[in-house]
Amino acid sequence: MHEWTEETERLAADVLAYTEERLHLRPVPLDGPRSPDELAEEAGRTITAEGIGGKEALRIFAEVLAPACISIDHPRYFSFIPCAPTPASTLFDLVVGASSIYGGSWMEGAGAVYAENQALSWLASLAGFPESAGGVFVQGGTLANVSALVAARHRQLAREAATGRERDFSRRYAVAASTEAHSSVHSAAAAMDVDLIGIEPDENGRLTGPGLRTALDRSAAEHPERICFAVVATAGTTNLGVVDDLAGVAEVAASRDLWLHVDGAYGAAALAAPSRRAMFAGIERADSFVVDPHKWLFAPFDCAALLYRDPAVAFAAHSQHASYLEPLRTGEEWSPSDYALHLTRRARGLPFWFSLAAYGTDAYSAAIERTLEVADYAARRVRELGHLELIGDPKLSVVAFRRRGWSEARYYEWSAALLSSGTAFVVPTTHEGAPAIRLAVVNPRSSEEDIDIVLGSLSD
Ligand SMILES: Cc1ncc(COP(=O)(O)O)c(C=O)c1O
Repeated sequence: MHEWTEETERLAADVLAYTEERLHLRPVPLDGPRSPDELAEEAGRTITAEGIGGKEALRIFAEVLAPACISIDHPRYFSFIPCAPTPASTLFDLVVGASSIYGGSWMEGAGAVYAENQALSWLASLAGFPESAGGVFVQGGTLANVSALVAARHRQLAREAATGRERDFSRRYAVAASTEAHSSVHSAAAAMDVDLIGIEPDENGRLTGPGLRTALDRSAAEHPERICFAVVATAGTTNLGVVDDLAGVAEVAASRDLWLHVDGAYGAAALAAPSRRAMFAGIERADSFVVDPHKWLFAPFDCAALLYRDPAVAFAAHSQHASYLEPLRTGEEWSPSDYALHLTRRARGLPFWFSLAAYGTDAYSAAIERTLEVADYAARRVRELGHLELIGDPKLSVVAFRRRGWSEARYYEWSAALLSSGTAFVVPTTHEGAPAIRLAVVNPRSSEEDIDIVLGSLSD
């Protein structure tokens, strides 16, 4: 199995040919899900005692399994937050796989970690973090959010321990966030068994400094047993792309000694877009932030960048200790495993690093600006079409609107028809309790024409 045989040689050629062909496809087929029965019938049983052979497994993948997966890089995939990796990043993903790198420790993966850290430094510099900032690429925004909050609570507990007083277990720890914060913030709070102080955003959908102050005061009055140790501000909400009032929130967080985590999993990529940079004023005061290159920075899954202002705090919270791990501690090392809730890790930042190194950061800024242009076009067209109703002006690259006169069921029928005809993937959402459509534009290959095709399908 581990020998390099003539059959392996042929398999290598087939795999590389498949990869190259897939990367060349224009247009990429949208494809779509199949039922378990259909897949069972067409793919059959693939795991057998003797093996079906690489050639046959690749055929089944190419002919049955891959077409049963929606292509996230299709230019009319506008659902959720799509992903549009650059060719360089996807190709380098193959290299990372082939290179057998352990990305958890400096001792084993120094070269990879060095390169990843350069990419992280660029992101930190976009946010105005100090040079001493540092972080790690984790699997996704969800893991980044929980890892940041675990570090925040660790700092709180350490501060309390430093007072020398006994811990009062009748008290509850809490995190504050807008009710528009991503579902992963709720998951993080639940996993950590801390309360989530949900704050209604202002009329523009933003968590503001005054809103945070009022909510914290109310929470303290109603729940004197609570110790709020962190606030999560969102820089680009998933539903509408709203950026919270980061400067105002930072001010209140500083005045109350709260850890400020900025969830920019989707939106903080726009730090690299000169036209939107001003919206993020205040992020430089955060204790941590996340931005996912697998969302709007053109890297393949799975790649989320988590940055800490003071990495030593994260190290104290996350580094694992055991006799078998001690040989990794050489003294000068920067081991990515020490900065999030994980140990073994793929050097998942390398495809992003390679692409960034290859094309340069200006190309990233230009590509993000292009997606913003297309999103602005979509908003303009929605405003012009009488049967559509825009929900607020888009702040980033998410455009949300309603089709006047449609029931919720009609939205779902329309969405299913778009997918089954291979036209587009756009799922409905809700805003203020009513159904709506949202287009998330993060693919520089999505064009005005793609927008017209989707909007055109809403006319009857
Ligand atoms: C604002 C925000 N935070 C967190 C996440 C979770 O990221 P992931 O899906 O990479 O775990 C998302 C995902 O869309 C998001 O939009």
